[in-house]
Amino acid sequence: MTLEASNVTFGYRDRPVGTGLDLAIAPGSFTAIVGPNACGKSTLLRVLSRLLKPTEGAVLLDGKAIAHQPSKQVAKRLGLLPQTSIAPDGITAADLVARGRFPHQSALRQWSRADEAAVREAMAATGIEDLADRLVDELSGGQRQRVWVAMVLAQETELLLLDEPTTFLDIAHQIELLDIFAGLNDEGRTIVAVLHDLNQAARYASHIVAMREGAVFAEGAPADVITEATVEAVFDLPCKVVPDPVSGTPLVLPLGRRR
Ligand SMILES: Nc1ncnc2c1ncn2[C@@H]1O[C@H](COP(=O)(O)OP(=O)(O)O)[C@@H](O)[C@H]1O
Ligand SMILES: [Mg+2]
Repeated sequence: MTLEASNVTFGYRDRPVGTGLDLAIAPGSFTAIVGPNACGKSTLLRVLSRLLKPTEGAVLLDGKAIAHQPSKQVAKRLGLLPQTSIAPDGITAADLVARGRFPHQSALRQWSRADEAAVREAMAATGIEDLADRLVDELSGGQRQRVWVAMVLAQETELLLLDEPTTFLDIAHQIELLDIFAGLNDEGRTIVAVLHDLNQAARYASHIVAMREGAVFAEGAPADVITEATVEAVFDLPCKVVPDPVSGTPLVLPLGRRR
Protein backbone atom coordinates (compact mmCIF):
# COMPACT_ATOMS: atom_id res chain seq x y z
CA MET A 1 0.00 0.00 0.00
CA THR A 2 1.36 3.41 -0.92
CA LEU A 3 0.59 6.71 0.74
CA GLU A 4 1.64 9.87 -0.95
CA ALA A 5 1.23 13.59 -0.48
CA SER A 6 1.30 15.25 -3.84
CA ASN A 7 2.00 18.97 -3.99
CA VAL A 8 0.01 19.62 -0.80
CA THR A 9 -0.49 23.07 0.62
CA PHE A 10 -1.86 22.81 4.13
CA GLY A 11 -2.38 24.62 7.40
CA TYR A 12 -5.07 26.30 9.46
CA ARG A 13 -7.39 29.10 8.63
CA ASP A 14 -5.06 31.98 9.43
CA ARG A 15 -1.88 29.98 9.56
CA PRO A 16 -0.42 28.37 6.46
CA VAL A 17 1.97 25.61 7.53
CA GLY A 18 3.34 24.05 4.35
CA THR A 19 3.28 24.81 0.64
CA GLY A 20 3.60 22.40 -2.28
CA LEU A 21 4.95 19.55 -0.18
CA ASP A 22 5.63 16.17 -1.81
CA LEU A 23 6.18 13.06 0.25
CA ALA A 24 5.91 9.39 -0.62
CA ILE A 25 5.75 6.77 2.10
CA ALA A 26 7.29 3.58 0.72
CA PRO A 27 5.28 0.43 1.45
CA GLY A 28 6.91 -1.57 4.23
CA SER A 29 9.15 1.28 5.31
CA PHE A 30 9.72 2.59 8.81
CA THR A 31 9.76 6.32 8.25
CA ALA A 32 10.73 8.71 11.04
CA ILE A 33 9.71 12.34 10.78
CA VAL A 34 11.99 14.67 12.73
CA GLY A 35 12.11 18.43 13.05
CA PRO A 36 11.87 21.28 15.54
CA ASN A 37 8.74 22.13 17.52
CA ALA A 38 6.03 23.81 15.46
CA CYS A 39 7.61 22.95 12.08
CA GLY A 40 4.40 21.17 11.02
CA LYS A 41 4.97 17.49 11.79
CA SER A 42 1.63 16.92 13.50
CA THR A 43 -0.19 18.96 10.88
CA LEU A 44 1.38 16.86 8.13
CA LEU A 45 0.25 13.65 9.86
CA ARG A 46 -3.27 15.07 10.05
CA VAL A 47 -3.15 15.76 6.34
CA LEU A 48 -1.83 12.27 5.58
CA SER A 49 -4.56 10.70 7.70
CA ARG A 50 -7.38 12.68 6.09
CA LEU A 51 -8.22 14.62 9.25
CA LEU A 52 -7.16 17.89 7.66
CA LYS A 53 -7.92 18.67 4.07
CA PRO A 54 -5.08 20.31 2.14
CA THR A 55 -6.03 23.58 0.46
CA GLU A 56 -4.16 22.45 -2.65
CA GLY A 57 -2.84 19.13 -3.88
CA ALA A 58 -3.97 15.73 -2.71
CA VAL A 59 -3.12 12.79 -0.51
CA LEU A 60 -3.20 9.56 -2.46
CA LEU A 61 -3.77 6.13 -1.00
CA ASP A 62 -2.77 3.55 -3.59
CA GLY A 63 -2.97 6.32 -6.15
CA LYS A 64 -6.52 7.37 -5.29
CA ALA A 65 -7.38 10.64 -3.56
CA ILE A 66 -8.03 9.92 0.09
CA ALA A 67 -10.48 12.81 0.33
CA HIS A 68 -12.90 10.89 -1.91
CA GLN A 69 -12.81 7.71 0.15
CA PRO A 70 -15.19 7.10 3.06
CA SER A 71 -13.46 7.76 6.37
CA LYS A 72 -14.27 4.30 7.72
CA GLN A 73 -12.68 2.67 4.70
CA VAL A 74 -9.56 4.77 5.16
CA ALA A 75 -9.52 3.91 8.88
CA LYS A 76 -9.35 0.21 8.06
CA ARG A 77 -6.09 0.76 6.25
CA LEU A 78 -4.43 3.57 8.11
CA GLY A 79 -4.32 4.21 11.85
CA LEU A 80 -3.35 7.49 13.51
CA LEU A 81 -2.01 7.96 17.01
CA PRO A 82 -2.45 11.70 17.58
CA GLN A 83 0.06 13.64 19.67
CA THR A 84 -2.53 14.34 22.35
CA SER A 85 -5.80 12.55 22.75
CA ILE A 86 -8.54 13.01 25.28
CA ALA A 87 -10.28 9.88 26.49
CA PRO A 88 -14.03 9.96 27.06
CA ASP A 89 -14.89 10.46 30.76
CA GLY A 90 -15.01 7.34 32.86
CA ILE A 91 -13.79 4.94 30.17
CA THR A 92 -11.68 1.92 31.09
CA ALA A 93 -8.48 1.01 29.31
CA ALA A 94 -10.06 -2.10 27.78
CA ASP A 95 -13.04 -0.13 26.46
CA LEU A 96 -10.78 2.50 24.95
CA VAL A 97 -8.70 -0.14 23.18
CA ALA A 98 -11.94 -1.72 21.92
CA ARG A 99 -12.79 1.56 20.19
CA GLY A 100 -9.95 0.81 17.80
CA ARG A 101 -12.27 -1.81 16.31
CA PHE A 102 -14.90 0.73 15.36
CA PRO A 103 -13.89 0.96 11.67
CA HIS A 104 -14.36 -2.80 11.37
CA GLN A 105 -17.93 -2.74 12.64
CA SER A 106 -21.21 -1.95 10.98
CA ALA A 107 -24.89 -2.54 11.44
CA LEU A 108 -24.39 -5.95 9.88
CA ARG A 109 -21.12 -6.81 11.51
CA GLN A 110 -21.16 -6.29 15.24
CA TRP A 111 -18.63 -7.21 17.93
CA SER A 112 -16.99 -10.47 16.91
CA ARG A 113 -14.33 -12.92 17.98
CA ALA A 114 -11.93 -11.23 15.57
CA ASP A 115 -12.53 -7.95 17.43
CA GLU A 116 -12.01 -9.66 20.76
CA ALA A 117 -8.76 -11.24 19.55
CA ALA A 118 -7.46 -7.97 18.09
CA VAL A 119 -8.07 -6.17 21.39
CA ARG A 120 -6.43 -8.94 23.40
CA GLU A 121 -3.38 -9.01 21.13
CA ALA A 122 -3.00 -5.23 21.17
CA MET A 123 -3.16 -5.18 24.96
CA ALA A 124 -0.62 -7.99 25.21
CA ALA A 125 1.74 -6.33 22.73
CA THR A 126 1.75 -3.11 24.77
CA GLY A 127 1.85 -4.89 28.12
CA ILE A 128 -1.33 -3.33 29.49
CA GLU A 129 -3.36 -6.42 30.36
CA ASP A 130 -3.12 -5.53 34.04
CA LEU A 131 -4.62 -2.11 33.34
CA ALA A 132 -7.69 -3.42 31.51
CA ASP A 133 -10.25 -2.39 34.14
CA ARG A 134 -8.56 0.82 35.26
CA LEU A 135 -9.99 4.20 34.31
CA VAL A 136 -7.88 5.86 31.64
CA ASP A 137 -8.08 9.17 33.55
CA GLU A 138 -6.40 7.57 36.52
CA LEU A 139 -3.38 6.15 34.73
CA SER A 140 0.10 7.64 34.66
CA GLY A 141 1.13 9.49 31.50
CA GLY A 142 3.20 6.53 30.32
CA GLN A 143 0.49 3.97 31.03
CA ARG A 144 -2.09 6.11 29.26
CA GLN A 145 0.18 6.43 26.24
CA ARG A 146 0.46 2.66 26.00
CA VAL A 147 -3.32 2.34 26.14
CA TRP A 148 -3.65 4.74 23.20
CA VAL A 149 -1.01 2.81 21.28
CA ALA A 150 -2.95 -0.39 21.97
CA MET A 151 -6.06 1.27 20.56
CA VAL A 152 -4.33 1.99 17.24
CA LEU A 153 -2.81 -1.48 17.15
CA ALA A 154 -6.27 -2.99 17.68
CA GLN A 155 -7.36 -1.17 14.54
CA GLU A 156 -5.09 -3.63 12.65
CA THR A 157 -4.16 -1.34 9.81
CA GLU A 158 -1.43 -1.88 7.24
CA LEU A 159 -0.07 1.57 7.92
CA LEU A 160 0.45 3.32 11.25
CA LEU A 161 0.94 7.06 11.64
CA LEU A 162 2.32 7.71 15.12
CA ASP A 163 2.75 11.22 16.48
CA GLU A 164 5.43 11.22 19.19
CA PRO A 165 4.48 7.78 20.47
CA THR A 166 7.37 7.66 22.94
CA THR A 167 7.25 11.16 24.38
CA PHE A 168 5.91 10.51 27.87
CA LEU A 169 7.67 7.23 28.42
CA ASP A 170 10.74 6.33 30.44
CA ILE A 171 13.68 5.08 28.40
CA ALA A 172 12.89 1.40 28.90
CA HIS A 173 9.30 1.86 27.78
CA GLN A 174 10.45 3.98 24.85
CA ILE A 175 12.62 1.15 23.61
CA GLU A 176 9.92 -1.42 24.34
CA LEU A 177 7.47 0.51 22.20
CA LEU A 178 9.96 1.13 19.39
CA ASP A 179 10.70 -2.60 19.44
CA ILE A 180 6.98 -3.30 19.08
CA PHE A 181 6.83 -1.01 16.06
CA ALA A 182 9.96 -2.62 14.63
CA GLY A 183 8.33 -6.04 15.06
CA LEU A 184 5.17 -4.89 13.27
CA ASN A 185 7.37 -3.42 10.56
CA ASP A 186 9.22 -6.74 10.19
CA GLU A 187 5.82 -8.37 9.68
CA GLY A 188 5.20 -6.01 6.77
CA ARG A 189 3.35 -3.09 8.29
CA THR A 190 4.36 0.40 7.24
CA ILE A 191 5.30 2.68 10.13
CA VAL A 192 5.47 6.47 10.06
CA ALA A 193 6.48 7.98 13.39
CA VAL A 194 7.27 11.49 14.55
CA LEU A 195 10.24 11.05 16.87
CA HIS A 196 12.22 13.62 18.81
CA ASP A 197 15.13 11.39 19.68
CA LEU A 198 17.33 11.51 16.60
CA ASN A 199 19.45 8.61 17.81
CA GLN A 200 16.42 6.39 18.18
CA ALA A 201 15.12 7.60 14.82
CA ALA A 202 18.46 6.68 13.22
CA ARG A 203 18.39 3.23 14.76
CA TYR A 204 14.81 2.26 14.09
CA ALA A 205 13.87 3.99 10.87
CA SER A 206 14.76 2.87 7.37
CA HIS A 207 13.97 6.33 6.08
CA ILE A 208 14.17 9.73 7.76
CA VAL A 209 12.27 12.85 6.78
CA ALA A 210 13.74 16.01 8.32
CA MET A 211 11.25 18.87 8.31
CA ARG A 212 11.79 22.54 8.79
CA GLU A 213 9.23 25.32 8.50
CA GLY A 214 6.54 23.17 6.94
CA ALA A 215 8.81 21.72 4.27
CA VAL A 216 10.87 18.60 3.79
CA PHE A 217 14.42 19.83 4.31
CA ALA A 218 16.10 16.46 3.69
CA GLU A 219 15.05 12.84 3.42
CA GLY A 220 16.78 9.54 2.91
CA ALA A 221 18.62 6.81 4.78
CA PRO A 222 19.54 7.71 8.39
CA ALA A 223 23.26 7.97 7.61
CA ASP A 224 22.52 10.47 4.84
CA VAL A 225 20.11 12.65 6.82
CA ILE A 226 21.43 12.60 10.39
CA THR A 227 24.60 14.53 9.69
CA GLU A 228 26.20 17.45 11.50
CA ALA A 229 25.26 19.81 8.69
CA THR A 230 21.62 18.74 8.49
CA VAL A 231 21.05 18.67 12.25
CA GLU A 232 22.60 22.11 12.54
CA ALA A 233 20.50 23.48 9.70
CA VAL A 234 17.22 21.91 10.82
CA PHE A 235 17.49 22.44 14.58
CA ASP A 236 20.00 25.32 14.75
CA LEU A 237 22.03 23.02 16.95
CA PRO A 238 25.78 22.65 16.61
CA CYS A 239 26.65 19.02 17.21
CA LYS A 240 29.03 16.19 16.52
CA VAL A 241 27.78 13.02 14.87
CA VAL A 242 29.65 9.79 15.58
CA PRO A 243 28.82 6.15 14.83
CA ASP A 244 26.60 4.67 17.55
CA PRO A 245 28.85 2.11 19.27
CA VAL A 246 25.93 -0.32 19.58
CA SER A 247 24.33 -0.06 16.15
CA GLY A 248 26.72 1.85 13.91
CA THR A 249 23.95 4.30 13.00
CA PRO A 250 24.51 8.06 13.50
CA LEU A 251 24.68 9.21 17.12
CA VAL A 252 24.14 12.93 17.68
CA LEU A 253 26.16 14.63 20.40
CA PRO A 254 25.01 18.24 20.88
CA LEU A 255 27.85 20.63 21.68
CA GLY A 256 25.98 22.90 24.10
CA ARG A 257 27.63 24.85 26.87
CA ARG A 258 28.87 22.06 29.13
CA ARG A 259 31.55 20.00 27.43
N1 LIG B 1 -5.47 23.73 15.46
C1 LIG B 1 -4.61 24.67 15.09
N2 LIG B 1 -5.03 25.90 14.67
C2 LIG B 1 -4.16 26.86 14.28
N3 LIG B 1 -2.84 26.69 14.25
C3 LIG B 1 -2.34 25.51 14.65
C4 LIG B 1 -3.19 24.44 15.10
N4 LIG B 1 -2.40 23.37 15.42
C5 LIG B 1 -1.13 23.78 15.19
N5 LIG B 1 -1.08 25.04 14.74
C6 LIG B 1 0.13 25.80 14.34
O1 LIG B 1 0.65 25.18 13.17
C7 LIG B 1 2.08 25.16 13.22
C8 LIG B 1 2.55 23.71 13.10
O2 LIG B 1 2.13 22.99 14.25
P1 LIG B 1 2.35 21.45 14.43
O3 LIG B 1 2.04 20.76 13.16
O4 LIG B 1 1.60 21.03 15.65
O5 LIG B 1 3.93 21.38 14.70
P2 LIG B 1 4.84 20.19 15.26
O6 LIG B 1 4.01 18.97 15.36
O7 LIG B 1 5.95 20.06 14.27
O8 LIG B 1 5.37 20.65 16.60
C9 LIG B 1 2.47 25.82 14.53
O9 LIG B 1 2.79 27.15 14.24
C10 LIG B 1 1.23 25.72 15.37
O10 LIG B 1 1.16 26.79 16.29
MG1 LIG C 1 3.52 17.82 16.97
